[in-house]
Amino acid sequence: MQLQVVQKSPEAFKSDLTVFFVRQAEERFTPPSADPVVAATVARAFGAGDFAGKEGETLLFYPEPAGAALRLLVVGVGKESLTRETVRKAAGTAAGVALKTRAARLLLVVPELSELAADEVAECLAEGVVLGGYRFDKYKTAKEDEPVAHIKAVSFWGTARAATLRRGMDRGRVAAMNAWAARDMANEPGNHWTPNHFADYGRALAERRGLTCKVLDKAAMKRLGMGGILGVNQGSAQPPKMVVVEYRTGKKVPTLLLVGKGLTFDAGGISLKPSAGMEEMKYDMCGGAAVLAAMAAVAEERPKKLDVVAIVPATENLPGPAALKPGDIITHYGGKTVEVVNTDAEGRLILADALAYGIEKYQPSAVVDLATLTGAVIVGLGHHRTGLLANDDALAARLSEAGERSGEPVWRLPLDKEYAKQLESQVADLKNIGNRAAGTITGGAFLQEFVGDTPWAHLDIAGTAWNFTEKSYVPKGSSGVGVRLLLELIRAWQ
Ligand code: BES
Ligand code: MN
Ligand code: ZN
Repeated sequence: MQLQVVQKSPEAFKSDLTVFFVRQAEERFTPPSADPVVAATVARAFGAGDFAGKEGETLLFYPEPAGAALRLLVVGVGKESLTRETVRKAAGTAAGVALKTRAARLLLVVPELSELAADEVAECLAEGVVLGGYRFDKYKTAKEDEPVAHIKAVSFWGTARAATLRRGMDRGRVAAMNAWAARDMANEPGNHWTPNHFADYGRALAERRGLTCKVLDKAAMKRLGMGGILGVNQGSAQPPKMVVVEYRTGKKVPTLLLVGKGLTFDAGGISLKPSAGMEEMKYDMCGGAAVLAAMAAVAEERPKKLDVVAIVPATENLPGPAALKPGDIITHYGGKTVEVVNTDAEGRLILADALAYGIEKYQPSAVVDLATLTGAVIVGLGHHRTGLLANDDALAARLSEAGERSGEPVWRLPLDKEYAKQLESQVADLKNIGNRAAGTITGGAFLQEFVGDTPWAHLDIAGTAWNFTEKSYVPKGSSGVGVRLLLELIRAWQ
């Protein structure tokens, strides 16, 4: 999708769909455009009681006499409490109309809104239209009479300075296009996205964007004593990979370490999951996809005061003759032993190695891990907020703020040491599950054992990585959650 700021006025700009955004009208509309056809049509629709500019309301029409735009769309943004999210959703609604009408070339007229600066409006419009224009149709064979709809180009016009609009638009574009990349990875089914694909993706990303990529293979994992990822991998025919991607400023600056769960298919292992809904476990690599996509965004924006390293431990979790068994005891990187009571609690086992290894090797100032770790987080927070657990209040606060701004909100859960009691084992340092109570917290408590004193936060995205609360700019399938949140965290870091 191409994005650009244009100077030509909406009345003269040739488009398949020109979009205006309007505040809800009380008695009569302030015309959204100088075009008398637009003003008259909106006034008539309002008079008929069909359109008042309420949030999410749309008015699509074909102007007569015909102008430069084939179609005109007016999208309501409501009356008050207008936020960045309101703008994203309005742009997502416009993208939905574009896909439905097969409009390929859009013009968005950037509205003046008292609550937000012009660059912020452009940013959120860009995010919403790009994210809302996403569809995963790679595996649909094309029907001749029904060409697949794609938004090809989106132009932005507004009364603010072009440079201001462009600055905002570019921020939104980078965030949203990289969220596309994460969605693309995650929407691939298990047979098309294996640990090897993660490794290839990491290498290609590094090559393309001037990053460094190192991939630890099975032999390296054995040498390093990574008993967690090796154990989980035992039932799989696909070799495990630990993908490490580095962005380095070359200066003496703090390092942020990102770790993403890259479980390319989770059948549960010997503690096999029920078959109903198991197909969704192809999404169990959404954390890994998010951190790699976030690295791509970092490589584009090149922060000056922060090094960023991403690690994706990647494997399948399948039952098989060599698979890990309940009761088995494994030794993690760094020497801690774990009694594996349930082989379906595998995410924490592969993350433990990645966290311990990454912290020792990179001595980061902060670590954030993203993982589709527990079904329990869906019970607690549903499909709207990502679960946040942290050993550091400042880092938790930064993530909460980034969550609000990015429209990927989080909610912190407690991590008192009382919860860790559930993980005491008779035979090893730790066991990998607690009882039924507080499943998301005990998942976090397990990971905490492997981070020492390093400021660390864990994001449980099991409820938000797919089946995310329906929104105009989040289609079915993978949501790409985490990419925009991490990018916002990094942007605000300095
Ligand atoms: N990948 C799952 C978590 C999950 C479940 C994500 C459902 C999204 C929807 C994870 O590996 C898992 O199986 N967790 C277990 C942990 C339990 C055995 C302590 C779970 O949540 O049931
Ligand atoms: Mn599992
Ligand atoms: Zn899993």
